[in-house]
Amino acid sequence: MTSASETVKIGIIGSQFEADIHAASIAMGRHGEVVAVASPTPGNAQELADRYGIARAYTDYREMLADPAIDMVTITAPNRLHCQITLDAAAAGKHVVCEKPLAMTLEEADLMIAACEQAGVHLFYAEELFFTPKYVKAKEMADQGAFGDVYLVKQSEMHFGPHADWFWDVEQSGGGVFMDMGCHGIAFCYWFLGRRRPTAITAQMGTYVHTDKGRGEDHSFAIIEFEGGVIGHLEDSWARRGGMDDRVEVYGSEGVTYANLHMGNALPTYSENGYGYAVEKAPSTSGWSYPVYEELWNYGFPQEMEHFAKCVKGLATPDSTGRDGRVVQELLLAGYQSAGSGRKVELPFRPEGVVKPIDLMFSPLAL
Ligand SMILES: NC(=O)c1ccc[n+]([C@@H]2O[C@H](COP(=O)([O-])OP(=O)(O)OC[C@H]3O[C@@H](n4cnc5c(N)ncnc54)[C@H](O)[C@@H]3O)[C@@H](O)[C@H]2O)c1
Repeated sequence: MTSASETVKIGIIGSQFEADIHAASIAMGRHGEVVAVASPTPGNAQELADRYGIARAYTDYREMLADPAIDMVTITAPNRLHCQITLDAAAAGKHVVCEKPLAMTLEEADLMIAACEQAGVHLFYAEELFFTPKYVKAKEMADQGAFGDVYLVKQSEMHFGPHADWFWDVEQSGGGVFMDMGCHGIAFCYWFLGRRRPTAITAQMGTYVHTDKGRGEDHSFAIIEFEGGVIGHLEDSWARRGGMDDRVEVYGSEGVTYANLHMGNALPTYSENGYGYAVEKAPSTSGWSYPVYEELWNYGFPQEMEHFAKCVKGLATPDSTGRDGRVVQELLLAGYQSAGSGRKVELPFRPEGVVKPIDLMFSPLAL
């Protein structure tokens, strides 16, 4: 275990969108320090390293894993690679922070959890909504009884589509917006409800706007039933114009709360000229836009990374692990099965021989 006075030495795998968020977020904390980055495209890892003053840059993450000075890696590579990289990192004795969604299949999720357990390393599941201050506040109030018996939790994330092409390639991503962002909503409802057992899911999804991009769906709805009859409701979109929208609603017998992550933390802005700051996922800053200040903090990324570093130092107990990611994975698979079959899918659901979740939408199993 890293001693109380030392920082946890971290290597980032990947160098683009989420890697930048990890590097910036870890730099805001006290317990972690990024010492290396690995990414296959020549020059990209070095660019991130230069931007954040990171000591070493590699093109092959396996070379980085051989560095005994590294305690933990964060995986910000496409979804298809999460399992193999986790297995390699566990074999090298590194703690792992794996970005969402955990994997492509339940078989992969189980392998990842088992490999980390056998190696005696943590497998953290990077779900920042467990750390988003506004959502944490909603949960604190719910846990104190502010809303009485909570019977419905809604989470929704929408924008006009991902920043990188690989998200549209279902061989690399495993699915469209439900895989990419539905995984946040599933995790959120599960966590918000105190990890109550999900019992069934009903989903509807399709490609409504980006019909030229690939096979991934661009709008999805899902209803999750949890033990005791509580409902989780998700809606996610890659087709919604106007920048990012991320919100939560909680309904109970004695009250309700609405948490709009962006609007309450943004400056409603109109500009004929546009301005330099890139509002996340907004195609332009001319016209109406909603720039968020202290965006990483409002999302909870620095708090999340600090928590993982503290866990490695033995100063905290993990709040988000591979087991949470596995619960999400099962519901992702069951959600695609529901969308493909037009029926509610009861859990446990463990389809055999599925390569990626979206396959179940195009070829649902006969249950
Ligand atoms: N938590 C969140 O809110 C959030 C937001 C965005 C992305 N993500 C997740 O982060 C992961 C990365 O997404 P992104 O948006 O950063 O994608 P990206 O396209 O911006 O970056 C992907 C990176 O992976 C690298 N990569 C590809 N093959 C690799 C390999 N063999 N070894 C090492 N690196 C490799 C690429 O070179 C690139 O640097 C995805 O799993 C995504 O779902 C999470």
